[in-house]
Amino acid sequence: MAQIGYSKKVMEHFMNPRNVGTIENPDGHGKVGNPVCGDLMEMYIKVEDDVITDIKFQTFGCGSAIATSSMVTELAKGMHVDEAMKITRNDVASELDGLPPQKMHCSNLAADALHEAIKDYESKKETTERGTKAQREDGRQGKHRS
Ligand code: FES
Repeated sequence: MAQIGYSKKVMEHFMNPRNVGTIENPDGHGKVGNPVCGDLMEMYIKVEDDVITDIKFQTFGCGSAIATSSMVTELAKGMHVDEAMKITRNDVASELDGLPPQKMHCSNLAADALHEAIKDYESKKETTERGTKAQREDGRQGKHRS
């Protein structure tokens, strides 16, 4: 049987994952799963002025999924959401000094969960902005009426 070689960094993040947990009332939440292996990943973000100030994850999956989620949270923390949207599975894998080819989909899951959380943040932001604009317009109309 072929041996799967994990880098020291993968092992280190697997044994000692960063930013594990959840965030109450997150600004964005992403959840993705892989139907083939059945692994599931959830990502929570707090955002201030479009910068990710806090990020946490929960992974119900393999060791690589844990290591890649941990790495993606490290990469994204402190980043502008537009920049974080550009993090790819290859960025995650290369920060971990590589992943075995059969484990690359695990890093896909990590990047996807992050992107879903950012999309959730963007859509919430849009709704709030629309609400504020509507309120402002209402206010203006109110003034006309009085
Ligand atoms: Fe599916 Fe790792 S085996 S995420």
